[in-house]
Amino acid sequence: MMNQTLDYTLPEFEEILQKTSKIVLEQYSHIDSQKGFCNYSQKEVESWFDEPLPLSGMDSLQLLQQAKEKVIATATGNLGLNMYAYVMAGGNQISSVADLLTSVINQNATKWHLAPAMTEIEKRVVKWAAEMIGYTPEAGGAMVSGGSAATLAGLTVARNIFFKKLEINKNGLFGQKPFTVYCSKETHNSTDKSIALLGIGTKHIRKIDTNADFTINLKALEAQIIEDKKQDFTPFCIVGNAGTVNTGAIDDLLSLSQIAKKYDMWFHVDGAYGGLVSSLPTIKNYYVGMENADSIALDFHKWLYQPFEIGCVLVRNWALLRETYFKQADYLDTQLEQKTDRLEFNEHYFQLSRNAKAFKVWMSVKAYGFAKIQEMMQKDIDLADYLAQRIKESSDFELQSAAHLSIVCFRYIGNCTTEKEIVEINQKLIPALEADGSVFITGTKLNNTFVLRACIINHRKQTTDIDYLLETIRNVARKI
Ligand SMILES: Cc1ncc(COP(=O)(O)O)c(C=O)c1O
Repeated sequence: MMNQTLDYTLPEFEEILQKTSKIVLEQYSHIDSQKGFCNYSQKEVESWFDEPLPLSGMDSLQLLQQAKEKVIATATGNLGLNMYAYVMAGGNQISSVADLLTSVINQNATKWHLAPAMTEIEKRVVKWAAEMIGYTPEAGGAMVSGGSAATLAGLTVARNIFFKKLEINKNGLFGQKPFTVYCSKETHNSTDKSIALLGIGTKHIRKIDTNADFTINLKALEAQIIEDKKQDFTPFCIVGNAGTVNTGAIDDLLSLSQIAKKYDMWFHVDGAYGGLVSSLPTIKNYYVGMENADSIALDFHKWLYQPFEIGCVLVRNWALLRETYFKQADYLDTQLEQKTDRLEFNEHYFQLSRNAKAFKVWMSVKAYGFAKIQEMMQKDIDLADYLAQRIKESSDFELQSAAHLSIVCFRYIGNCTTEKEIVEINQKLIPALEADGSVFITGTKLNNTFVLRACIINHRKQTTDIDYLLETIRNVARKI
């Protein structure tokens, strides 16, 4: 057999790494001018990659050059200062290095003996996450792909543990009275997706009306639970929002936890967007009650500034996860391994093979320190406040919502004289701004009214960037 591998020689690999480092550094050298969006047509982008399966390899440096031109240089501006869409955090440098190192050692964080250090790091990051948000130090958890996966994991634990005596793991849901789930109308659709996947059925989600500040209306919630009980449903779980995706509204988590307790229900908190800022002294009060949650979804690729993907599910202890997920398999048996306190992540989560996501969190929290990260979080919130103030002071914008966190919803008014004109111009603004590309912003609906929505979640942003956002919208709007 020929002595072949896919590896380059060390000097060749060094050259590749040097070129890669150069590309990385170039990203940071022009970060101030990074566009929000590079407006190439879908057909054009498709054409760059339209080729048959390559049977022969190409020169690696040429390949890097191609990647630089077609992928890196055309990327949506998540790193930079002009991204306001959805919830797009800017990543951080040390986590990118960690991601590279993680993939170099290619650990599988599934069984302790396959990844000893990475497993212990993941356990530690679970503890840190609980500490960051003031949750129980006994918490168990796992790194997952993001907020949606964290909510699915939390609600899977909820379904299996809450109905333990029904042995849903074994019996499925056949023949059960429908379980009902409660959350506000502003709840992220990852709850709907999870409930669908769990076989509970989205028609059993009760979307409760909100108050004027977009938090769940507690009276309506309790009335619905009572009504469902009367109708012979099984009220099972309340999902509370620790920061909604539309406006950053934080539900009254203490009252929700009390209602859940009163009616003997599971309490899950969607903290994907807002959970991690709960330790900030300026807003801490809004989160009282989150510590009572039975499960919590967090998203480190949001307010911990991690590169995609990484979320985290927390539950009150590790045993709940194992009870939910463990399935015996001879090829995974640990009985012949040394008797130790090894924690096996494959027994605590759905995935078997898993990359070592926690490493980048560990590296970045150690590199910057959580206090510095908190300063950046507070800066995001202050910048959102600055944006809201600028909008209020202006004569051509109208503020629609400014919550406690970092999302501001607003409309461009310009010289419009009727509501119809305002709606039209704001809807036209989204594609016009995308075509312009200077800034990237998306919209949503509040009380059925279309609004522009800016989410500020990037440690690199400053007040001048916020001024630039408003100025750009004005300029683009005037051309419509
Ligand atoms: C409140 C909330 N929940 C859940 C999610 C879903 O998170 P992910 O995109 O990481 O799956 C988001 C994403 O923006 C969110 O804002």
